[in-house]
Amino acid sequence: MRQLLAIRYLNRPDIEDIIERAAAHRERIKERKPVPQRSHLSVGLLFFEDSTRTRVSFEQAAAYLGHRTVSFTTVGSSLRKGETLRDTVLTLRDEGLDAIVVRHPSSGACNLAAREFGGPCVNAGDGSHEHPTQALGDALTIQDRKGTIEGLTVAIVGDVVHSRVARSNAWLLSKMGAAVRLCGPSSLMPSQMTKLPGTHCYDVREAVHGADVVMCLRLQKERMADGLAGSVRDYANNFQVNRRLLARHAPEAIVMHPGPLNRGVEIDDATADGPSSAIGDQVRNSVFVRMAVLDWCFGEVTA
Ligand code: NCD
Repeated sequence: MRQLLAIRYLNRPDIEDIIERAAAHRERIKERKPVPQRSHLSVGLLFFEDSTRTRVSFEQAAAYLGHRTVSFTTVGSSLRKGETLRDTVLTLRDEGLDAIVVRHPSSGACNLAAREFGGPCVNAGDGSHEHPTQALGDALTIQDRKGTIEGLTVAIVGDVVHSRVARSNAWLLSKMGAAVRLCGPSSLMPSQMTKLPGTHCYDVREAVHGADVVMCLRLQKERMADGLAGSVRDYANNFQVNRRLLARHAPEAIVMHPGPLNRGVEIDDATADGPSSAIGDQVRNSVFVRMAVLDWCFGEVTA
């Protein structure tokens, strides 16, 4: 039994193991070979925050593996009656769920849920802390397109301070031997004190120059209690990843975005829908990676 709470605590062999398992699942599904059916476990999907891709891909991953999912969302639950996260998790444990997948608006909430649950638990994004399965799916996508991660230069551009995707990716990519450049307006960059791996850069042209991968981040307006310094238009003028920027500074780069996209803000349509875009692959690969992560947590052998 394992828990996947953050890439920060994962070592390189574990990351490679999960990526390999994901690629093996993808191969089987592509060739319409049967996926070895598991022990029909029940997986609770606890989403305390909105989600489209992550929730659906976990459901899809569990279904491919023959597991049952039980969905839990804030709406229609006893959270509305003031129940705590701890009591909610204990209730679900006592009702016999075998594993939980947790998304929560507060950083660290998944660690608490995992501790109380005591069994397999996957972080599906907690506040601005981490989103490990997103980074693992992104790693598989980069490996497919570039052949390797080791030695690449990856620019992560946008609202870095609020982004759990940026954090998990910065940890994963640096553990795998890539050079990470974090870029955004100073109001949306984490303090150097956070010790996130990667260099800091405040000019998007400098950040993407010669990069192999450009990863765009969504402006997370819902996490900006203090407002965005400057307007969205200013942001787009200065930090948008678009066709002109890429043609001039990173013509060989693939472009990624975890979604959902603010088209015309952090990325233009021509780039999001163009040949360098790997956004569709990121979504496709996320299902296989989540299958691999469920196997890894349950201690199943994939091969
Ligand atoms: C991200 C998330 O929720 O952290 N989306 C996702 O899971 N694919 C990124 C975001 O919301 O901007």
